[in-house]
This record gives sequence, structure tokens and C-alpha cells, in this order.
Amino acid sequence: MSVPSPCCVLVGAAALAAPAPRAERPEIVIADFEGETYGDWEVTGEAFGPGPARGTLPGQMVVSGYFGKGLVNTFFRGDGTTGTITSPIFVIERRHLTFLVGGGNHPGETCVNLIVEGSVARTQTGPNSERLRPATWDVGDLAGKTARVQIVDAHTGGWGHVNVDRIVLADERPAVVDDRDGALAKAMESVRAAAEKASRDPMRPAYHVRAPANWINDPNGPIFFKGSYHLFYQHNPFGDQWDHMHWGHVRSRDLVTWEHLPIALWPSLALGEDHCFSGCAALDGEGQPKIFYTSIGPREPECWIAVPEDDDLIKWRKHRGNPVLKESSSTVKLHEWRDPFVFRHEGKTYLVHGGNLNASKGGQAAVSLYEAEDQELVRWRFKSVLFVDASASNIECPNFFPLGGKFVLITSPHRACDWLVGRFDAAAGKFTPERRGLLDASDQLYAPNNLEEPSGRRVLWGWIRGFRGGMGWNGCMTVPRVLSLADGALVQTPAPELAVLRGEGHRAGEARLASGAPVASPLEGECLEIAAVLERRDAKAVGLRVRRSGDSSRAVAIRHDGETLEVSGTKAPLKLGAAEPLELRVFLDRSVLEVFAAGGRTCITRVIYPPPEDQGVEAFAEGGSGSLRSLEVWRVRPIW
Ligand code: FRU
Repeated sequence: MSVPSPCCVLVGAAALAAPAPRAERPEIVIADFEGETYGDWEVTGEAFGPGPARGTLPGQMVVSGYFGKGLVNTFFRGDGTTGTITSPIFVIERRHLTFLVGGGNHPGETCVNLIVEGSVARTQTGPNSERLRPATWDVGDLAGKTARVQIVDAHTGGWGHVNVDRIVLADERPAVVDDRDGALAKAMESVRAAAEKASRDPMRPAYHVRAPANWINDPNGPIFFKGSYHLFYQHNPFGDQWDHMHWGHVRSRDLVTWEHLPIALWPSLALGEDHCFSGCAALDGEGQPKIFYTSIGPREPECWIAVPEDDDLIKWRKHRGNPVLKESSSTVKLHEWRDPFVFRHEGKTYLVHGGNLNASKGGQAAVSLYEAEDQELVRWRFKSVLFVDASASNIECPNFFPLGGKFVLITSPHRACDWLVGRFDAAAGKFTPERRGLLDASDQLYAPNNLEEPSGRRVLWGWIRGFRGGMGWNGCMTVPRVLSLADGALVQTPAPELAVLRGEGHRAGEARLASGAPVASPLEGECLEIAAVLERRDAKAVGLRVRRSGDSSRAVAIRHDGETLEVSGTKAPLKLGAAEPLELRVFLDRSVLEVFAAGGRTCITRVIYPPPEDQGVEAFAEGGSGSLRSLEVWRVRPIW
């Protein structure tokens, strides 16, 4: 019998001479790989390194799902290395042998073997994924025999490594443990480690909602609860590119100053979940918040619920009734089915999902409709296909909600987002659009989400995308935008609360704008709010130039020619008469530029990378003369 090492606890036959009654027998940990070395395990070759790895190795994609801090990870010096590691002999004293396994799927070459009487009695490869998943062998037929566990890496090509952790003998098939706290601790440690690099990027927005570091995409589950706004977001805590979808979390009391809270949702790897995709938050019939989101794993997409354990919505657990819906829960075949959004209408609760009806071949993007069958919002029934969009191949992140006596549908069709205003026939489960337009002319605003305040006001955030990679962060939210209808069209205006962030300001009064003679603001900067009213008169175009260089040779132009608004190369139709003034609200935040024109009828969001020294602001006219009615510029205070 070998001496237990710091990483392995071996319980041999002697220790089990007088076993406790079967059901009470504790599990036997063959190895947890938490020590510095492999102890008494026999190592051959190079692949296993000097001792258990502490997570991901250099050059490897992120490894997740291991238990504690250490694991076997044969990516030591990459996929080219090979070897074996073999446990000391133990007696099979329990019905099941369980372990966590990830890495390559090469039978016999990247695997865990159970060796009994000199031959392989059981074998298990990895899943060609760096996520470790539980595997269990029923070893009842081998009871009382001596055995060894052998981990093999004999493959040198792609996925030529294996990840293994926590090898245990147990009577019962182990209950699947969703290691929330372990998963969140690793995720947040990774974000903390990236924060310093992210903070060194001078182009990172200062007053837009973003993560402490690493990747974010869609805003998720915005909700006002017990006096606070909560906003969640798609988040990869492990890098500044898309992967490993978690839900990050920020909270605000005033809608504009935010605090980071712990990550709210984590992929439950042990439950077969690889990503927590987008979704919403809604109050159930008892007034309790619930998160609805798309659970992604090696199976069809499912709609899962998470429930909070506290009123600050900090700790969440996955509902035991999951999944509450699946892609196949509908009577029509849906593809790319995801992104639940809950709404209420005439005392009933519904939710919509995005997707399409023809495997994304084009012309049949679809929003499907479900109705709640209980107060808890756990039982749902497919009702209908609410809407088919012939102009798109797929719809992501549908938002569907009542506004101003109409219904609004906002879609993310893999290009600039659409809004549609129309009628909802609840009995038929159909939406008939009457008007449509672009939410933002640029596709750098994507996958928005919105909440309804107790007052009935609707506030929307979009994901701003298109930033430079490799900076330790990527992605942020738009400023909060208040939604309303004007002449049957959807308009967005920056939330008035944003004025709280205004610092020093300057107002220029009326002035003539001649071609080649702009009116410059004495107040300049990279984090500004600007409100301007301009008249085109006989000029070809009027507008603002921000981030203008000292010699005026460079600038980011916001330009209107009577028909079209153009911001940094993105154009949107905006028809104004020559005498009708152009009203602009501009939010400039380092690499982010959000422009609201004509009372929010036309919006353009752009990611910009001007030289750092270019900070000027001016109003201009081109090809004739116009006039400036007013130009107000404020510094905006950072919130982070
Ligand atoms: C939109 C989207 C959603 C999905 C999420 C995944 O950007 O593709 O459809 O739920 O991002 O991060």
C-alpha cells in the first residue's frame, strides 16, 4: 500500500475491514490533484509536467469545470508532448468510479483508463473541449478487485491532450453538483487579473456601462427592483473575446452611476451547460424577480430560469424545474431559437423567442410566442409564430412590449437593429406591423434590451461593438435611452438623468455659420455631452465636428445635408426642410460616439479612434451659409 501523498488520499482494504452500512459509506477520493506533485502516481513522458496544473496552461484555450485549484492537464508545452500517469493500486470498494474529464477525443490516446488484472477494463476520452465534465463508470462487476487508474496522452496533433480531475469511488452515482461558488470565484479572479491591463487603455469609455475587464456583449435582464436598476450583460470573464458566456451585473439607484456586483450567472458545466446566453428578467405573479435565459450545451437550446437568493439580486440559483422550454417545445420547427423576453398584456404573461423557420436560409426570420400557465412562470405553452420577417434570415434578441397604445417589436437581425410598431392580436397570437425603421443606423449598436419602470417609462440599452481587440476589455452599453412614439414612429432620447454627470459647461449663442468659418467651442475634450441646434439655410450641409485636431485638418464629422445624416461614414435618412432646424444631442466618451438627431428620430452610434490630442468641437456649414442657434458643451464626469 502506498503512502497517501498531498494530492491523493488512498483508502485501502485494511482501512475498510469493517465497513459502515452501505448507504453511509463515505466516498473514497482516489485523487484531487490539489497538491504540488503527483505524489505516488507513476509518471512517464513529458506531458504531465512537474505536477498538477493550476488551470489553463500557456497557449491553451481557457480550461474550466475543474474542481478546486489543481488538475491534470497534459497541454504541458503544448499538444506535442506525450506520456502516462498511473495511480497506485487500490481496491474497488464502491459501486461507482467518477471523475471529471476534458481535452481531446482520441480513443486510446487521450483518455482515462481503469486497469484491472493488467488490461483496460474501462476507458473514457475527453469531449474535444477544454471544459471538464463528470464521467461515471459502474464498476459493480469489478467489486473487490485491485485496480489502477491510468491517464494517457499518446496523441501529438490537434486536441492532443487530456484534462482530468477529482477521481472518486462512491456507492451512489454521485449527485450532480453545480459548483456555483467555485465557478464564480474562478471567473471573478480572472476578471480581477485582467483589470489592470484594461484600465491602461486610454480609449476605454469612462461613463458608459461596461465590465471591470474582458469581453461583454448584449445587455441582459434589465429590471427595476426595490429602488435599484439592475442591468446584466453577456460576459466572458476569461478573455477579451467572445466565449464562456456568463452574466455580469451592475446596479444603479439613479440610472447613470453604477456599481459592479459579482457575476450573476455561470455556465453549469456539470448540468451540461456551456453558456448562459441572453435573456430577460421579470417579476413573477408573487412579485419575485426571475431571470429567463437560453441555456446552451451539447443539446438543443433550452430556456432556463434562475432565481435570486437575496433582494440585492446578487446570488442566483438555477431553478429545479429547468428547462422550462426547449427549442422543440413548439409545434413548428424553429432554428437558432434563443433570447427570451417576457411581457404582460391584459392580465396574461407571455414571452417571445427569436429564431427562424428555415435553417437561416433567408426570408423566414421568426419570433415565436409562448404564454405562461402559472403564476410562478415555470410552465409555458407555445402559442404561435408571432411574426415572420421576410427581410432577414434570423432574429436575435427580440424585445416585444406595449408602448403608447401600440406594440413595439425590436429585432437584432445580424445587421443594424429594426424597430416595428403595430398591433398585437393576443387571441390569434399575431403582430401586424404598421411602421418600421432602424433603431440605429449603425450595426455597432446591437442586441438591445429594455425595462419598464413602475411609472411605465421604457428605458433601453444597446451593446456597442466594434472596438479594437487585445486591450483587456471589449464592449460597452449605450447610454440609457427613453423610448416613446412620435407620429407612429419609435423615438429614443437620452435619459434626462444623464444631466447628473454634467461638469463644467459652455454655451455659445446665435451665430452665422459661413463656409470655411466654423464656430468653435472653447470647451474641448474626449468625454463630452453636446446639444446643438443648427439651421442649414442655403448651405449644402451643416453639422458638428468633434475630436477636431488643433489645425482643423482632422475631425469626426456629424453632417446633415437636408436628406441624410452622416456620422463617421454611417448614413441615415433624415429629411428636414431648409428652415427646419437640425437638433443634435451627442455623447462622446473616448472611443464611443452616440448621436441623437431630430428629437431621437434618427440615431447613429459609432466606435471611433481619433488621435488622443484631437479634442476640439465646432459647428460648421459647407457650401453656403447656415446659422447656429445654440451650441452647449459639457464635460461629463467619469462613473468608474
Ligand atoms: C446576440 C447574441 C444572442 C445570444 C448572445 C450570445 O448578440 O448572439 O442571440 O444569446 O449573443 O452571447
